[in-house]
Amino acid sequence: MTPEQIRHSLLSWYDAHARDLPWRTGPAAGQVGVRSDPYRVWLSEVMLQQTTVPHAAPYFLKFTARWPTVSDLAAAPDDEVMAAWAGLGYYARARNLLACARAVANDHGGVFPDTEAVLRALPGLGPYTAAAVAAIAFDEATNVVDGNVERVMARLFAVETPLPAAKPELKALAAALVRDGRSGDWAQALMDLGATICRPKSPLCDRCPLTAACAGLASGAPETYPRKTAKAARPHRHGVAYILTRGEEVALVRRPPKGLLGGMLGLPTSDWRPAPWSDADALAQAPASAERGAGEVEHVFTHFSLTLRLLRADGEAEGLIWTARRDLDALPSVFLKAARAGLSNLL
Ligand code: ADE
Repeated sequence: MTPEQIRHSLLSWYDAHARDLPWRTGPAAGQVGVRSDPYRVWLSEVMLQQTTVPHAAPYFLKFTARWPTVSDLAAAPDDEVMAAWAGLGYYARARNLLACARAVANDHGGVFPDTEAVLRALPGLGPYTAAAVAAIAFDEATNVVDGNVERVMARLFAVETPLPAAKPELKALAAALVRDGRSGDWAQALMDLGATICRPKSPLCDRCPLTAACAGLASGAPETYPRKTAKAARPHRHGVAYILTRGEEVALVRRPPKGLLGGMLGLPTSDWRPAPWSDADALAQAPASAERGAGEVEHVFTHFSLTLRLLRADGEAEGLIWTARRDLDALPSVFLKAARAGLSNLL
């Protein structure tokens, strides 16, 4: 298949099978040729960089209902935005999101710049997001390459170079398929193909519009692409989280601004370290007199996994933020999980 035939097949497939997602116009929404609001495109792309479509969708709806324009978001207090982001992870992104919204509101009169180059100059807006917003909201013929698109290219062209070294090659292969016209549809068609057909495991090749072109399929083992270099095992760490209660309230702390979960609310914890915590060490780091074990939870972050021992503690200490149990939903997932487990183990 020529590049033109590949484009034609995939765009026709997209016309029939595009997913109907809350931030989309286009075929799925019955709005062919209607450009999407750049604010909604940008917000969805930032959210989707760290999570799946089903997990991001309710956050997207919540954010756009509460802050319908970029200027509304720019005017929101930091802690309200951080609390609304809780559960999406990668909290530095939420801070970048606010920095970017404020730059658009203050330096661009609340109107998103309409080219990839100028978008790229906004704070916290990386090459992927700039390309995606320019293509989807402004129909610029950019090359939008995420993990899905890399996988599709690696299979379509049976690229033998392993990731991550293959990235420039995969990007160049994707660039060779970009043309003027239907730029946003093209970018999202590739993403949808990657997410629903050319899936990481067990691709559904019998439903793929590109089988005639696919060198990976011809090789007999398309699912073995992209090739990968062996990954170092995810390290494991141990920590202790302290559950302090006062009636219906639970003690939280504001985490330091830098580092993992920076600036977010959390349970008071010990350091997180490679070795498990002895009882004596765990008690020594407690913010108030620790009493008894309240179980343990496991959590997997991108770069390490964590066993968090839970210890019931009593008393007052400096910096504790007493918070009603019903307001714990704004905690990052690891602490919500720990608080729920710790509190139910108290009963
Ligand atoms: N993943 C990242 N951006 C996306 C989009 N616009 N549509 C579908 N999946 C995506």
